[in-house]
Amino acid sequence: MNSIMNDYLFFGVLPYVSLAIFFLVTISRYRQQTFTYSSLSSQFLENKQHFWGSVPFHYGILIVLAGHLIGFLFPSWILSWNAAPVRLAFLEISGLAFGILTLVGLLVIVVRRWMNIKVRRVTTISDWLVYALLILQVSTGLAIAVHLGWGSSWFATSLAPWLWSLLHLSPEVSFIGPLPLLVKLHIINAFVLIGFFPFTRLVHVLVVPNPYLWRKTQVVRWNWDRERLRQS
Ligand code: HEM
Repeated sequence: MNSIMNDYLFFGVLPYVSLAIFFLVTISRYRQQTFTYSSLSSQFLENKQHFWGSVPFHYGILIVLAGHLIGFLFPSWILSWNAAPVRLAFLEISGLAFGILTLVGLLVIVVRRWMNIKVRRVTTISDWLVYALLILQVSTGLAIAVHLGWGSSWFATSLAPWLWSLLHLSPEVSFIGPLPLLVKLHIINAFVLIGFFPFTRLVHVLVVPNPYLWRKTQVVRWNWDRERLRQS
């Protein structure tokens, strides 16, 4: 009885609460504090490690999330693609590779933020919280991919229908009940991240066009005498 109640709270109520927070706060922050919609990039404080963290992280996460979206929107395509074992293996291995790319990028980002004193100074508590949630999200995703196997197929048969039931405002929590704890943790943390999103620098994702991924690298020239500055 208790576990049914918990499942209902986590998979029948939490998604709506976090989506409501996401939309309401995102819109009101955009209307009241438009200029806070920024990644507050620290690229100009340090560029080299920034590149090796930011680029793998962004390419990895964008492709992984596109995979989740396709699984949600077109579950029957995924199932027919997966009907051939070689295609199933290709999909699973690619998902895993992009997940690893995401985690590596994320770890470089976090280590850089901690090790570089200038960058650490401009890092807020909300940034550290976002990194912790992202590490948990990406590592539980990878653990599912490694330990539970063929996730793309059972995503299509049990998670996509649950997500659709949420969209139709009649959550079918029974799809989630029998799933392993790891999967539940991955889903709960995803909705915590979604609810926290509008309070953080992650809002930059919503400001399109987002040219970071293809624009030329920026050259920043300091217009001061560094030597004199160091001595003063
Ligand atoms: C903030 C949102 C999310 C992020 C950043 C995220 C991230 C990831 C990552 C990095 C992986 C490993 C790479 C892969 O194998 O595809 C993964 C796998 C997975 N995720 Fe998510 N995820 C999110 C939300 C969700 C949600 C809401 C669900 C379910 C409703 C979900 C279900 C899964 C499943 C089933 C796998 C295993 C896929 C497989 O083994 O092929 N994820 N996720």
